[in-house]
Amino acid sequence: MRLRHTVPGAVALTSLAFLLIIPAAPAAAASASDTLRASARGTGVRIGTAVNTDALADEAQYRDLTAAEFNTVTAENVMKWQLTEPERGVHDWAAADRLIEFAQANGQKVRGHTLVWHSQNPDWLNEEDFTPTQLRAILRQHIFDEVRHFKGKIWHWDVVNEIFEDDGSWRDTIWLRNLGPGYVADAFRWAHQADPKAKLYVNDYNNEGINPKSDAYYDLIKQLKSEGVPVQGYGMQGHLAVQYGFPADVLDNMRRFEKLGLDTAFTEVDVRMLLPTDTAKVQAQAEGYNNLLRACLLAQRCVSYTVWGFTDKYSWVPGVFTGEGYATLMDENYVRKPAYAAVRDTLRLAA
Ligand code: G3I
Repeated sequence: MRLRHTVPGAVALTSLAFLLIIPAAPAAAASASDTLRASARGTGVRIGTAVNTDALADEAQYRDLTAAEFNTVTAENVMKWQLTEPERGVHDWAAADRLIEFAQANGQKVRGHTLVWHSQNPDWLNEEDFTPTQLRAILRQHIFDEVRHFKGKIWHWDVVNEIFEDDGSWRDTIWLRNLGPGYVADAFRWAHQADPKAKLYVNDYNNEGINPKSDAYYDLIKQLKSEGVPVQGYGMQGHLAVQYGFPADVLDNMRRFEKLGLDTAFTEVDVRMLLPTDTAKVQAQAEGYNNLLRACLLAQRCVSYTVWGFTDKYSWVPGVFTGEGYATLMDENYVRKPAYAAVRDTLRLAA
């Protein structure tokens, strides 16, 4: 059962505030019932993580926690085009296939990430001067190859990733420049033909609240829906930072997409901070995680809440934002942070 069925929003917000003071406990002390996965049972929301497949292969503790804590997984990198087709026409599905086997063995659903993006494309695509006609055929082939390869094994596909700028204008990408905005409708149609049962998502960051970027998605999806394009989900990455504060109107934003007939999902949640950490930042981080989770639990069609890695040991943040980090639910020794306790206890309250 979800918060929306049990506790009126205002009550939920007040009663959850005190949960943030629960102290961190080592993951090693956890019992099977003391996990995010167990706590999410009965909420209607799946709890997920991005998976670093090197760590999954090399490290037992990482593997055990991935299985114990989550009931959906996303490949952090290995389903991206750069890795699946490093040479034109030569595919390497091995790492992604191993992740899918792991997920199936552990009763986890898989989010497919991502089919069309401006980043992490193969070198051969970036280096050669293809004509628009060639590029359209290449993109179509890529989508059919990848979606068919994983057919029946993927719960959601992030079909297009990060197609708008924060001001709501179209992001200038190889696809927009050569194919025009129609590439989005094409991508959804091709993905749907290749695996009609997978749910097809748009995905972006800074689109959690109501702002020019989420407005652009709203207008686009309304138009795509009216044309019968099979867009079925609105993905919000949820990369937050305590120093910028958190979006306030997330639930209202989700509701307008749900009214268009879409499911919603948080797909890459993490909450970074300027280092060093202190108690106020760590507490604010727990609030950031909790704000998005609460919106998910209160929305009608929010089906999953995925974190972008669960340990600082493998977080992407320090490599990209100099001087920032501590963004995930567990530190680099897998010690649970207050944010972990906040997420677990909010799930329990909603179950
Ligand atoms: O695979 C190569 C390896 O061969 C090489 O030795 C090494 C040296 O740097 O690089 C490896 O590639 C790295 C790749 O991750 C795999 O580990 C790239 O340098 C690195 O840039 C890449 O970063 C990923 C990033 O996307 C790329 O944009 C992060 O791990 C990944 O967490 C991040 O994820 C994105 C989502 O897909 C979309 N939303 C934002 C999110 C965070 O940036």
